[in-house]
This record gives sequence, C-alpha cells and structure tokens, in this order.
Amino acid sequence: MNETVLDQVALEFREVMAKVCTPVAVITAFDDQRPHGTTVSAFTSLSMGPPMILVSLDRGSDLLAIIRRTGRFGVNVLAHDQADVAMRFARKGADKFDGVDWSDSAQLPRLDGAAGWLGCTTASLVDGGDHVVALGNIVETGVTSTAPLTYHDRVFGTHRAFEVAR
Ligand SMILES: Cc1cc2nc3c(=O)[nH]c(=O)nc-3n(C[C@H](O)[C@H](O)[C@H](O)COP(=O)(O)O)c2cc1C
Repeated sequence: MNETVLDQVALEFREVMAKVCTPVAVITAFDDQRPHGTTVSAFTSLSMGPPMILVSLDRGSDLLAIIRRTGRFGVNVLAHDQADVAMRFARKGADKFDGVDWSDSAQLPRLDGAAGWLGCTTASLVDGGDHVVALGNIVETGVTSTAPLTYHDRVFGTHRAFEVAR
C-alpha cells in the first residue's frame, strides 16, 4: 500500500473506532507509595476461567512503566457521573490523585465512587504496535448498581436500554 492509502486507512480507522461505544476506566497502580492512574477505554474481559481482563496501554504511558515494575494494576470502571475523573486522569503528571478520594485495596489504589472494581496481577505484557496489552488475573472484585460512564463519538455518556413495548 502506498503512503496516501495508509494515511486514509489510519484516518478511517479512527472514525470507525469512534463509532464503537466503549466503557471508561481509570487503571491504577502504586509507584512506591504514590498512587498513579490513567484513563483508558481500551479494556475488556478476556477469560472467565480463570477470570482475566486485558488493557491496552500506549508505549509512552507512565502507568505502563509502573506496571512493568510492580506486576499489578487496578481497574476502576467509572460511574456515569465521573466524566471529570476521566478527564483528570487523561493527562500526564504525578499529581493526578491530588484532591481525589481513594483507598488502598489489594495493594492497589481504588477510587471512591466507581461503578466497578477489579484488582489484578499482571499475567503478561504483549506488544501490539504502538501499544502494549496488559493481561491481568483478577484477584479482587467490587460491584455497585451505579450506571457506567461510556465514550462514543468522542463524547461521554451512559447506556440507556431501549423502551420495551408492552
Ligand atoms: C476517553 C479516553 C480514553 C483513553 N483510552 C486510552 C487507552 O485505552 N489507552 C491508553 O494508553 N491511553 C488512553 N487514553 C489516553 C491516556 O489517558 C493519556 O495518554 C494519559 O495522559 C496517560 O497517562 P500516563 O502517562 O500517566 O499513563 C484515553 C484518554 C481518554 C480521554
């Protein structure tokens, strides 16, 4: 394929992926004592037996560097009213947790108010283009009845079921 065709593929790939409604999570880990977190939409369940998930992290992610060292990470599935939390953790810096309520759970930073929680140990890290896929074994879970935050067409929202005809 020539360069123009590749550019077109890359462009349309982004547009197609914008049509995919994704969940939003903050992936967390401890950098020594300091909690660190990163917003992701690229995560999904991988295996039921054993329970596993996967998360795709940019090669330049500071969180990825921490996970490489520590071998564990937390998945905070954000709630519908946490778009501000998603934006806070989508920037760079060591201060993302400043003013944020959280606790230590399974030796991982766990955000207050999230819709769901998965504590994981890293099973493996797999290269994928400019990202690295972290496969996690789930060691702790936490679930609420709160509706989740979603990301679609580059805006945040939440899921609404169709009206059921009676
Ligand atoms: C809605 C949304 C989804 C994102 N999804 C991902 C993702 O799946 N993987 C990723 O590596 N970065 C994703 N990002 C970008 C990271 O949050 C951002 O690059 C962050 O600054 C990385 O921080 P770190 O270097 O501290 O890990 C997303 C950002 C937003 C706003």
